[in-house]
Amino acid sequence: MSFNVLILGATGLCGSAILKFAAKEPSFATILTITRREIKDSYDASKVKNVIAKSSDSWADLIPKDVNIMFSGLATTMGEAGKDNFYKVDHDLNVELAKRAKSQGCSTYVLVSSVGANENSSFYYMKTKGEIERDILALNFDKTIILRPGPLIGQRDKDKGFMNGLSAKLGQLLYKTRLQRLLSYPASGEDVAKAGVKLAVDHSRTSKIQIIESKEILELASEAA
Ligand SMILES: *[C@@H]1O[C@H](CO)[C@@H](O)[C@H](O)[C@H]1NC(C)=O
Repeated sequence: MSFNVLILGATGLCGSAILKFAAKEPSFATILTITRREIKDSYDASKVKNVIAKSSDSWADLIPKDVNIMFSGLATTMGEAGKDNFYKVDHDLNVELAKRAKSQGCSTYVLVSSVGANENSSFYYMKTKGEIERDILALNFDKTIILRPGPLIGQRDKDKGFMNGLSAKLGQLLYKTRLQRLLSYPASGEDVAKAGVKLAVDHSRTSKIQIIESKEILELASEAA
């Protein structure tokens, strides 16, 4: 089996790690990234095509017909983008691009979401993540894999996610220690990426909807290592 892959958010913490591991996955024939800016991280570029387009308005039209598996680590921060733009990128753009890929025949969608994602949450960040999950699931891909990592360690922007600087530091301290569950199992971008790539190609897992919490992300990542 060989697959054509699309990765969104490849300049981010999880997206760049997904690109790195996807580039090493033998069953991935081609990998396309669509980003606003150049990807700085290094990876094996032999089967990767990067398209850089500053305006995300054009991104849906850049999605080709033959994509089989799509990964999205596309996310911004409220600090970076402001509340309205945060929703426009995290929710609207993700859903628009997923919709287009689905209509072009993409069968598997892998979303990087967050611990606590819930459309009914009173926390805006969790609520937004929950609404993305809900609206992506409504598109009815053959397989939807939702990764819900805990606090992401190695976060480059200090205001990212729902964690502020202090809890990000705590995440780093508790990463893979016996106390990790106190902080919803902190995970690294690489853990998220390894788990995502492994699940995307694992045909023994036939469930149409796979929601993977952070503890399982860590387990899958260590099996993949
Ligand atoms: C959110 O609330 C609605 C209405 O009570 C309910 O149908 C839905 O299942 C809830 N969603 C989640 C993710 O709990």
